[in-house]
Amino acid sequence: MSYIVLKGVNFTYSLGEGRSLKALKNLSFSVEKGSFVALVGMNGSGKSTLSKLLNGLFLPTNKQGQVIVDGINTKEVEDGTVKDGDGNEVTAFDVRRKVGIVFQNPDNQTVATIVEDDVAFGPENIGLPREEIVERVTSALESVGMQDYKDRPVSKLSGGQKQRVAIAGVLAMRPDVIVFDESTAMLDPLGRREIMSIAKELNNQGITVIMVTHNMDEAALADRIIVLSKGEVALDGTPKEVFSQDVTRFGLTLPPATETANRLGAVGFDFDGAMINEVELVEGICKQLR
Ligand SMILES: Nc1ncnc2c1ncn2[C@@H]1O[C@H](COP(=O)(O)OP(=O)(O)OP(=O)(O)O)[C@@H](O)[C@H]1O
Ligand SMILES: [Mg+2]
Repeated sequence: MSYIVLKGVNFTYSLGEGRSLKALKNLSFSVEKGSFVALVGMNGSGKSTLSKLLNGLFLPTNKQGQVIVDGINTKEVEDGTVKDGDGNEVTAFDVRRKVGIVFQNPDNQTVATIVEDDVAFGPENIGLPREEIVERVTSALESVGMQDYKDRPVSKLSGGQKQRVAIAGVLAMRPDVIVFDESTAMLDPLGRREIMSIAKELNNQGITVIMVTHNMDEAALADRIIVLSKGEVALDGTPKEVFSQDVTRFGLTLPPATETANRLGAVGFDFDGAMINEVELVEGICKQLR
């Protein structure tokens, strides 16, 4: 079932003095509920702009363009309260709650001094009862393995730990979708792996994940990769499908395992499609050496 649907979406930044920049052009695709989608593309291809359209922070700038989130048109809801499929009244804020975003810089995403206060910030703002806030904060911190740090100052945490707190803050709002906009980019390899494994675990629990990344090994872990190029969808498919293509024309690299398999292919190895990770590559090589 589609959870997010984009229909003919354009987004243009106005740069003042009559100048403008077309960041997204005629995007139409859907994101299935419960899927794990990687969004890749070179710098300036439109990934962050698209991320902000997915939760209604930005609206399509063309009249026909639509972003539908859980059946709600982000444009209509911005103009006033509308009813969802079940007849409940929804506001723009509700859409933002359904799709949480974790950004790149761990230092820009925290609002309170102490970890648990930071995670409680969202639930407090929507006026939830005290017990519910405590319950949400506890379970969100557990989900990211930060429960032992709840009384610590955020400023004393590592970058990876700060990102985990930022994820907990998003989780405390009980979103259906989490967009990670290069949330691992400023972390060391261990921090990256931890965030990826949290994202995978949340996805296993039913949360839809959209992972914006420049790291092709991370993209290879997704069910589906969408490649953006100059504001348009250039490729859209499984990691195997996408990495069978020449992605360098869109400014991307291949995962190291795919690259190695291609080199081996040039000296006579014959693999069944693109090898997207080391395990596949090793199995592929062993099969041919037997
Ligand atoms: N606030 C803004 N005002 C004007 N132009 C912008 C603004 N933000 C982004 N752009 C432009 O829109 C295009 C898409 O930018 P966007 O940040 O969405 O790309 P991105 O794929 O996220 O890039 P990166 O990989 O560097 O994060 C770029 O040409 C960028 O320069
Ligand atoms: Mg970006």
